[in-house]
Amino acid sequence: MAEEPVRYGMIGCGEIAVQAFDALMAAGNATLAATFDVEQELAQDLAGKTEGAVACASQQDLLARDDVDAVIVSTPHYLHAPVAIAAVEAGKHALVEKPIACRVAEARRMVDAAAAADRRLGVCFVHRYTPITQGVRRFVAEGHLGTIMSWVIVGMGHKEDSYWTGGYTQRARTVWRMRRETAGGGYLIMNTIHTIDWLRHLTGQEVVAARAAGGTYNSPEGVEVEDLFSASVTLSGGGIGIIAGGSSVPGGGLNETRLIGTKGQMVFEGSGRGATAVFLTDGAEVNGQEVPAGEWTDVDFSDGKSGNARALTIEAFGRWVRGEQEFLAPGDDALKTLQACESIYRDAGLFDG
Ligand SMILES: NC(=O)c1ccc[n+]([C@@H]2O[C@H](COP(=O)([O-])OP(=O)(O)OC[C@H]3O[C@@H](n4cnc5c(N)ncnc54)[C@H](O)[C@@H]3O)[C@@H](O)[C@H]2O)c1
Repeated sequence: MAEEPVRYGMIGCGEIAVQAFDALMAAGNATLAATFDVEQELAQDLAGKTEGAVACASQQDLLARDDVDAVIVSTPHYLHAPVAIAAVEAGKHALVEKPIACRVAEARRMVDAAAAADRRLGVCFVHRYTPITQGVRRFVAEGHLGTIMSWVIVGMGHKEDSYWTGGYTQRARTVWRMRRETAGGGYLIMNTIHTIDWLRHLTGQEVVAARAAGGTYNSPEGVEVEDLFSASVTLSGGGIGIIAGGSSVPGGGLNETRLIGTKGQMVFEGSGRGATAVFLTDGAEVNGQEVPAGEWTDVDFSDGKSGNARALTIEAFGRWVRGEQEFLAPGDDALKTLQACESIYRDAGLFDG
């Protein structure tokens, strides 16, 4: 007999929660029971879209409900830790948006609280569930690239001024993204973190040291977080990497994610969502496709898989909650991605303890 679906509560019903809602509806093992947002109409909006869901008057009310097994935490960064800790202490499993928290020390408290309560704590690093990810991960593990010498992650775009007071959609009017205290940082912890996490997952390597610089160069008044940073990092396998990003680069348009090994390179379009160009000194075969030696080839690593990465993430989290399968982005692993960001912030003088 099929398992009962996991019944979710959503805490924070702003911009990304709209996508989380759609993903919940698309997931095969999830239902929405309750929502809460300090902006009541946002909670009511999401609850009203599906039968049986209610908008709660407080976080406490939501966490006290017997028909909530797990929560999705989509609040500003500084609230991830207190909300997730309250959730696991109330007996709920917690799937938290990235970053796991603003600071590694807070993330450790979350991981410890989940372990003490015997609840699952996961993080929405949805790139781990893109259709190509596990194929690329196997390919790297099989050694086709040789020894990994370098990661290159460069993302320079341009965010409109309105982003700082309402995100991309203006669904929630708020200034948390511009403050270090509420966001923990800027482009690195908000955006580049996804790609750092993805390359960690693909290579099994950690960022163990960083030389970095960054600051706020070209954003509207009041923005405290970095809108430009650059780091040279050392990887646990002995390789080195370049990680740089920016959110106020007129014209934007610079986006590069590469894995460089002693026997080849992979270039990813859209950090794991799009096509992958591969160059190998020795040839290989991927899902029946020949990758000839010595020339750049577009390779499809999806092996016929498709699907919405966020829905796949929620589905996988549900299977983890039910004890059916391990989850690819558990809290203790996601914490190490935050650790990489923190080492860059520390060296750049952008860490306030
Ligand atoms: N995984 C991804 O790809 C991805 C993409 C975008 C955003 N995010 C993350 O999702 C989170 C939310 O981002 P967003 O863009 O939706 O922000 P947002 O500001 O649009 O939404 C946050 C919501 O939280 C609500 N809120 C604030 N304090 C609250 C509290 N105490 N209790 C309940 N609700 C509260 C706000 O009213 C708002 O509606 C952030 O962590 C962000 O980094 C993840």
